[in-house]
Amino acid sequence: MGKLSSSLSSTVGRKLLMGLTGLGLVMFVAGHLAGNLSLLIGTRTQFNQYTHLLESLGPTLWIIELGLLALFGLHAYSGIMVWFTNRRARSDKYRKTANAGGPSLKSWSSVWMIFTGIVLALFVVVHVWSFKYGPGVAEGYVQHVDGEGIRDLHRLVVETFSQPGPVILYCGVMILLGLHLRHGFWSAFQSLGAMNSKLTPLTYAIGVLVAVLIGLGFLILPVWIYINGGGI
Ligand code: HEM
Repeated sequence: MGKLSSSLSSTVGRKLLMGLTGLGLVMFVAGHLAGNLSLLIGTRTQFNQYTHLLESLGPTLWIIELGLLALFGLHAYSGIMVWFTNRRARSDKYRKTANAGGPSLKSWSSVWMIFTGIVLALFVVVHVWSFKYGPGVAEGYVQHVDGEGIRDLHRLVVETFSQPGPVILYCGVMILLGLHLRHGFWSAFQSLGAMNSKLTPLTYAIGVLVAVLIGLGFLILPVWIYINGGGI
């Protein structure tokens, strides 16, 4: 245990933790996108039944959510620690060599990653608060399906994205999500040591593809709903 915690608190350990938790989060985000696509291709009933099914998992869902929270928490923790270490290393270097020139491309990407990461973390808090803990059956957001009153989450999502403000906000954040993923995916494989110079272009290309598919996939949802309303 002691060995595990000391290796996780080393710089390499933290980068590894950041990469592994990042890849776990990519899987969650991809699954979340797939479920949300039913807002485009499904009906109001199908979307509400899907989210109702998730809710009715009860304790299983809580365990999944705890795992997700741990992934987000560890990813943010390791990201902030790596950023601080890089910053300290940079300022030490500049102190030794006064003429070291401007910050390298690498340091810009880590500044960029911490910035997009903080925006995404704030987004997730507001997003979960407004959708998951937003108005439900008690507030009249209810749909009757097979004699049962279930939460009409579809109505909440459509109402939210019928206003230009949230649509613009979501689009902006989804672009930042795409940029975070583009660098993060490649960087995670580098930290995991899974890349040799031959694999670098391939991993980079997959990272770009994943980022574009996820970023654009999420971005289409609010725009589509704003223009057409939800569902088919
Ligand atoms: C247009 C984009 C998105 C839409 C329409 C959307 C929709 C939703 C909805 C409707 C819920 C509530 C589900 C429920 O209560 O059963 C939810 C939950 C959630 N969303 Fe999103 N989402 C979007 C983007 C994102 C992104 C980009 C992330 C992460 C970076 C994210 C992370 C989460 C998380 C963590 C939850 C809580 C899951 C849980 O605790 O069960 N969402 N989202």
